[in-house]
Amino acid sequence: MTIEFVKTVIAADMQAVDALIRDRLHSEVILVRQVAEYIISSGGKRLRPALTLLSAQALGYNGHHHIELATVVEFIHTATLLHDDVVDESSLRRGRDTANALFGNAASVLVGDFLYSRAFQMMVGVNDMRVMQVLADATNVIAEGEVLQLMNIGDAELNEAAYLKVIRYKTAKLFEAAARLGALLTKQDKNVETALASYGMHLGTAFQIVDDVLDYSGEAGEIGKNLGDDLAEGKCTLPLIHAMRLGNEKQASIVRDAIVHAQRENFADVLKVVRTSGALNAAMEAAHIEAQFALDAIASLPNNPASQALRELARFAVERNS
Ligand code: IPE
Ligand code: IPE
Ligand code: MG
Ligand code: MG
Repeated sequence: MTIEFVKTVIAADMQAVDALIRDRLHSEVILVRQVAEYIISSGGKRLRPALTLLSAQALGYNGHHHIELATVVEFIHTATLLHDDVVDESSLRRGRDTANALFGNAASVLVGDFLYSRAFQMMVGVNDMRVMQVLADATNVIAEGEVLQLMNIGDAELNEAAYLKVIRYKTAKLFEAAARLGALLTKQDKNVETALASYGMHLGTAFQIVDDVLDYSGEAGEIGKNLGDDLAEGKCTLPLIHAMRLGNEKQASIVRDAIVHAQRENFADVLKVVRTSGALNAAMEAAHIEAQFALDAIASLPNNPASQALRELARFAVERNS
């Protein structure tokens, strides 16, 4: 089974989501359209909307709200990316110049706001209080995660638990909400809802750990982002936490200094430590454990193509190189 299988299972629904994304991007304000269309047309894996479509499908949903909610989830995600690239001063996203590099920080922040609020307009249209609660909470927690991470910048003493808290908030929370939506739409018992939510949370955690690994081990051409962005910002991610633990004193101090001074200049030295200390394997092991938790959480879902695709996504999250 491959990621192609996942795409096939949701092909028709995802086509409807893409059409709705196009339709709801519309604004009479030309700069809104330019920036929003620019980032959306750059592509993206559409992982989070896939979770909503698959969880709904796995539980036998036969309405049409999953299309709207998958779109809402992708809009929230896209808004976070617009803001994130400003905060991170990133210049490459999805293999192209970031929106901030092209249109400036102000336009990126403001169009991010447009996408957040458009997502809320659409979510209100679905008119389900629990759905609104889950998506409002997720959006709020993402913002908290980003601020928490900001507070941790330059802190080389950050431990694994503190790191995990940040990524659960900034990334895994939206995966959790996206997967939970299918259970809400099909009015499942609490235990099924919790199972899907737990799946999403662990999947999102695995996904972000791998993202942090790829920031050291990936290829810019494949990940569509520049390597070393995390270090340039002084972000103490799991590969660095392990590198400081596993490396000798000199190696640990190379990593520590680079975090504290938030520099890209020493990226080559840090990269060498990260790659030779076993830090990447240690981080990947953590990602595999999270992916296994995700699989365990949905072990009792009915067996059908959509639930098989959810399982395949847990494998993809840790095996991907882009
Ligand atoms: C990027 O997410 C932000 C992270 C949480 C690492 P994705 O890697 O899912 O971004 P796209 O949508 O596929 O570009
Ligand atoms: C992405 O964080 C999380 C959110 C957008 C909330 P990162 O800053 O780690 O992700 P990339 O590497 O820029 O995609
Ligand atoms: Mg970033
Ligand atoms: Mg960031």
